[in-house]
Amino acid sequence: MRLLFLGDVVGRSGRAIVAALLPGLIEKHRFDFVVVNGENAAGGFGITEEIFQGLIDAGADCVTTGNHVWDQREALIFASRHDRFLRPINYPPGTPGRGANVYTARNGARILVVNVMGAIFMPALDDPFAAVAREIGSCSIGGGCDAIVVDIHAEATSEKQTMGHFLDGRASLVVGTHTHVPTADYRVLKNGTAFMTDVGMCGDYDSVIGMEKDEPLRRATTKIPSARFGPALGPAALSGLAVDIDDSTGLARRVSPVRMGPGLSPAEPDLLDHC
Ligand SMILES: [Fe+2]
Ligand SMILES: [Fe+2]
Repeated sequence: MRLLFLGDVVGRSGRAIVAALLPGLIEKHRFDFVVVNGENAAGGFGITEEIFQGLIDAGADCVTTGNHVWDQREALIFASRHDRFLRPINYPPGTPGRGANVYTARNGARILVVNVMGAIFMPALDDPFAAVAREIGSCSIGGGCDAIVVDIHAEATSEKQTMGHFLDGRASLVVGTHTHVPTADYRVLKNGTAFMTDVGMCGDYDSVIGMEKDEPLRRATTKIPSARFGPALGPAALSGLAVDIDDSTGLARRVSPVRMGPGLSPAEPDLLDHC
């Protein structure tokens, strides 16, 4: 089974590259299941129902989010309507929407996706480790599902790596999101969990983490906010991770980084293309 995870979609440029490339990637490389983090898809801040639907129409089977999930207030309403929409699972009880769900992939496999927010330098939610352990304890690989994907939306690289090792051998894929910069440590951990500290963003890399760079530069040098942050609107790159999973164990065999478009190192991915 082949999974594709795409990092935080930022603004119109990010949406455009996903819409342009994702359908072809799914067809060409036969991805059975696609997860896209959409927390910055609406002008860099949050996601609307229409934009969520656009990501689904482009081929996402599940859209995860993070700390920006409620920036567009309509998300509080539509979050509960769409079972392919996830917000971090460790929000307080009673928060709209869901933080995990089981989906059927194109090959018939049942895939549990969990979206969780880190605790370091992030909004104070419930313990991310306890929250994920509870979820995969009640729906394990070979138990309630055939594969598990965890999106750890966190600032600290150490916390994301800790989550990877915490779940090594119990999840198929653990990926970090939120920092919008792809890390070079994509690999399969010792016990078979595919891992990458941050999958990067789908957005314009001629920017400061997807935001138009003039205002961050002004603020850094003058210490005076003079405009709102807005998404950079130049050509975007697609960034993520492709994973080949052993159907019999639900664990990863190998990974391939996805880096397509301007602004990223030309590590043209093979997208696991041996088929
Ligand atoms: Fe983000
Ligand atoms: Fe975030």
